[in-house]
Parts: sequence; C-alpha cells; structure tokens
Amino acid sequence: MRNKNVVSLLILVLGTLGILALTHAQNAPEASEKGKEVYEQSCAHCHGTEGRGDGAAAENLLPQPRDFTRGLYKIRSTESGELPTDQDLFDIITEGMPGSSMPGWETALSANERWEVVAYIKTFHSGFKEREAPPREISLEGKIPFSEESVEIGKGLYTELGCVECHGNVGRGDGTSAPTLTDAWNFQTWPANLTQGWTYRGGSDTEDIFKRFIGGIAGSPMPAFEGDSFLHFGLTSEESKRLTELENMDEMTEADEEASNQFYEKMDEAVNIALNRVEGVELSAAEQQLYDNAMKVVYEKSWHLANYVKSLMPEERPEPAIGNNVLRSQYIQGELPTIDDAAWETSEARYFPLVGQIVVEPRQFNPTIDAVNVKSFYNDTEVVFLFIWDDRTYTTGDETDETTGKPLEDALAVQFPVKVPQGPTAPKPYFLGGGRLPVYLWHWKASAPEQVTELTAKGINAAEVQEVQADLQVKSTYTDGQYKLWVKRALKTEDKKDLQLESGVFVPIAFSAWDGSNGDIDTKRTITSWYTFVLEPVPSSRRFIYPPLIAILSFGLLVGLRAAVQRRNSVS
Ligand code: HEC
Ligand code: HEC
Repeated sequence: MRNKNVVSLLILVLGTLGILALTHAQNAPEASEKGKEVYEQSCAHCHGTEGRGDGAAAENLLPQPRDFTRGLYKIRSTESGELPTDQDLFDIITEGMPGSSMPGWETALSANERWEVVAYIKTFHSGFKEREAPPREISLEGKIPFSEESVEIGKGLYTELGCVECHGNVGRGDGTSAPTLTDAWNFQTWPANLTQGWTYRGGSDTEDIFKRFIGGIAGSPMPAFEGDSFLHFGLTSEESKRLTELENMDEMTEADEEASNQFYEKMDEAVNIALNRVEGVELSAAEQQLYDNAMKVVYEKSWHLANYVKSLMPEERPEPAIGNNVLRSQYIQGELPTIDDAAWETSEARYFPLVGQIVVEPRQFNPTIDAVNVKSFYNDTEVVFLFIWDDRTYTTGDETDETTGKPLEDALAVQFPVKVPQGPTAPKPYFLGGGRLPVYLWHWKASAPEQVTELTAKGINAAEVQEVQADLQVKSTYTDGQYKLWVKRALKTEDKKDLQLESGVFVPIAFSAWDGSNGDIDTKRTITSWYTFVLEPVPSSRRFIYPPLIAILSFGLLVGLRAAVQRRNSVS
C-alpha cells in the first residue's frame, strides 16, 4: 500500500516537472569548455570555428550556414530587432531547419549538450552579453481559432500587406518579386512555398506562422510586419471603416474633413509612440494604453492572416508513393480524360519526393523542387498521366548557364526500365539514368510545352534520342507557380526500345526535375530513386460477370444442400 502511494507521488512530481519543462522557457548556463567541445565536434565544419558560417562544408550550401557573429536569427519568439531567447536557440538546434542543411540534434546530442552549445554560440555575438533586459517576446494571447470566416479576412490581408508580391497568388512562392531576392549576406534566396508547411524553417503551426511575420525573419528579405505596416494603424476597426468611407467620398463636408483629420492625428500619434517604444523611450500610462489598443487590432488581424496561411497547406506532408500509396492507374471504359477534365479531381495524387542529385558532377546541393505529384488512368488501349509539380519561376531557356553556355529551362523526365523486371527481387536498371540495363525516358522541356521526347539511356550522361518516336500526346500548363503535364501513350508500341504496359504488372518509375532559374542543368537536377506503379487490374469484368456467376453457383449449392438434407431426413 505504502509503495503504491510513493509511486503515485513520484508520478505526480515527475509529471509536474515534465509540464514545467514544457511550458517554462529555460535559460542557457554560462558558456563552458563543454559547450565549445560540442560546437567544435558537431557544428564547426559548417558554422566555422569562429562562428562566421565559413566551415569547410559551407561552400556549396544555400542558404549558407549561419554566421553567428552578426546576431541575425530567423526563428524567434521575440519582436523585430530583438535577439532570440535561449529557448528559441535550444528549440531550433533540437528541431533543425527543414528546407535547409541545418540538421536537428534531438537524438545526436543530449539536452544538456544542446544547452551547453546554446551558451557557446551566444559568445560569438556581443549583443547577447550586453543586453540588459530580457528580450521582448511576442504575445500569443487572444489567438483567434481557425474558421472559414477568419481565413477569408486573412486572405484580404495577404494582398493588402503585400505578402502576395513575394509568396504569389496562392502561396507557392512565385510572386513577382520572388526571383529578385537576396539575403543579408547577398546570396539569392526564395520566398517560402506556403503550401508546403513541411519546408518551413521554423514550423508550420499557426503560432509559428504568427510569430514569423510579427517578428520577421532576420537576415532574410521577409520584413517584420509591425504596427504601421497595417492599414490605419492606431484606429479601431470601426474607425478604420469610417475613414475608408470618408476617403472614398467625392466631396466632404467640413465636419467630414474635421473627422478625417482627427483620424489622421490619431494614427500619427500611434506611429510615434511605436517608434519611441522601439527606441526605449519610457511611455506614459496613456501612451501605453493607446499603443496597446492599436496593437490589439494588429494582433487580431495577424491571427486571421496566420489562419489563412495555415489554410493553404495540407494538414501533413503527403506520404511518399510506396506501400499502400503506390501509384495505381485506374481503368476507365472509353475516352481518357483531357488535361482539364473534372475526372482528375476524383483521383488522389501520389507524392514522389525529390532530392538534389549529388552523385555525379555537376551536383545540386540546394534543390528548389519538393516533389512531383502524379495521377493516372488507362483504358483498353492507352494510358494517360498527369504530372504536377511546383516551381516558383517559369523558365523557358532565355537565360544561359554560365559554365556551359547552354540554355537554362524547366524540365521533367520520367524514367522506366525498357524491360519490366520479373518480380520484386529481379534487378532493375541503375536508378541514375540506367547502366548495364537500359532505361526508357520521357523528356519534357518548358521551351517545347506540347512535346515529349523518347530517349533510351545507359547512364546519366549516356542518353540517346530514339530514332522512332511513338505517338505521344502532350499538353502542359503553368499557373500560379505550378506545372501540369499531361501525357498519353498507347499501352503497346511497335518499338522494342519502348516500355510495353500490361494491366496488373508492377512497373518501376522514377523522375528527374529541373528548375532552370535555380541553375538546374544536365546532371544538376532533382531526382527520385525507383518507385513503382501499376495499371490497376480491370475490375469491370469481375463486377459484371462474377457476381451473377457467384449467384448462380451459390444457388446451385443451396439446391444441392437442400437435396442432401432431404435425403438424410428421408433416410432417418
Ligand atoms: C551541415 C551543416 C550544418 C551543421 C553541421 C550545423 N548547422 Fe546550424 N545551420 C546550418 C545552415 C545551413 C543554417 C541556416 C539555415 C537558414 O538560414 O535557413 C543553420 C542555422 C543555424 C542556426 C540559426 C537559427 C535561426 O533561427 O536562424 C543555429 C542557432 C544553428 N544553425 C546552430 C547549430 C548548432 C548548434 C550546430 C551543431 C550542434 C549546427 N548548427 C550544425 C547548417 C548546419
Ligand atoms: C519581400 C518578400 C517577402 C514578403 C513581402 C513576405 N515574405 Fe514571407 N518570406 C520571404 C522569404 C524570402 C522567406 C524565406 C525566409 C528564409 O527562410 O530565409 C519567407 C518565409 C515566410 C514564411 C515561412 C517561415 C518559415 O518558418 O520558414 C512564412 C509563413 C511567410 N514568409 C509568410 C509571409 C506573410 C504572411 C507575409 C505577408 C504578411 C509575407 N510572408 C511577406 C519573403 C517575403
């Protein structure tokens, strides 16, 4: 009995400690030899011994490993212009930064080691030592729950605040300014594709998103959206509505003019107070009140905006097309769907994640295409595929590659073996463009959007255009940072170098994609390894022939059974 009590008490205490650890931001210990050791072993080859971001491995990386000496941190829970909290640093070291080469250290380093290294990296920037007060944190109070209404308001703000200029109409990072952006170290940088939450550096929870645009992403061109970025900062929503009305009037009465002037004065005052606050001027109680009221409106709007951004992405990163998610081409009777047919909506895309090709020179260490999504249908004679992938820029060969002088353009290649391996353990061609066993390729380029070329390859640099080109039908579109490529081919062709398709047979498939504006050319590209797809065996014959057959059979069985029972009864 006593033991049980002790155990429950222990559980209670441990549980409380656990909750405390979760909810209470911690501070790093004093910098120590231990932290230096961890840093030199695990971090210096990227971030440099002196913390300047110039480690031996840094050369090829974009974004570059952070230069810690400037005190610019992207992922903070603190206001614009502030350094991060120790907890922020600990969290980012623990989680890593998706979409960059910064790994997470949750398993490789103990929590203690992570705290020690936080203390150590702070020594690279004097600002941490010199700061007197704790940094101002962004308040998460008053969070507005997700709802369609909130998303709708947020959508308006997305345009009003100019997010659209960088992040594009539907958030794919394809805004008009997207190709022109550089970071604080003068390297090219791309706006996040907001529809791919799993690529966000600092997490894609609504709170994370909220903190990113209130606090900004230091070192990146993404600005902090502070009070006066918002329309009519300092006015309540009613006042703002009224001012818009007044501003839209053709003629104002004297009273109207007076009213609008009062609004302008109030707005000026709010901006001045905000500026004073940043400069550390002590605010009077009345000023503080005015500022708090103004910020309440800003924070409300920001929650709506965060809800809108959240609405742009699927809840989770899609599962790759393996196991239960393998690509199944569905059988239809009659005509296959055209590129804009509603039938595509009935089929869920399969997700094939891409990675940079780093086996053969030239390599791609900084891929910009996340994945290709695929749907497919077939009928008795043909198969059709719809390939969908995001690319922030539409590049058709107007720019050229500096080293080769060749045109840079967006492209996609779909790879199959020439001969389908018999069974899952039979050898496949080498995944990188074939080898001893050849591959059959479909190559599409943005400069010839209605054409796919058939190639045979025995290596990534050994592809040849086939002499006999099958009759492939091709259509493509580029809208809001997304390509759609539609390809239709006969299941069987006369050419021995082509893949021949048969229902029910699992066929290896792989992809390469090129983003021209990211310098992708030749072997510098994004790739997948082998996946499989299958023409899902025709269900129709079973559905229409088998059920009656089964009915007849079971009827027969029933008759037989009854006869047997009757026989037995008559015997006994
Ligand atoms: C393979 C290279 C690599 C290694 C190893 C690495 N980092 Fe990084 N780290 C990066 C890159 C790249 C970035 C910048 C990512 C970005 O700007 O989006 C980064 C950024 C950071 C940041 C900035 C976070 C922010 O909010 O801006 C911190 C802190 C950091 N790393 C700490 C560490 C620590 C501590 C270690 C060792 C335990 C480590 N890194 C090891 C590549 C690396
Ligand atoms: C001047 C261009 C620009 C504007 C305007 C802009 N952004 Fe960004 N945004 C960027 C860039 C660049 C990044 C990538 C930052 C990085 O990882 O270095 C980014 C990243 C993000 C991220 C991902 C954060 C993460 O953790 O990786 C979110 C969310 C975001 N922006 C939302 C917004 C919203 C909402 C607005 C409007 C209020 C906005 N942005 C306006 C350029 C911009």
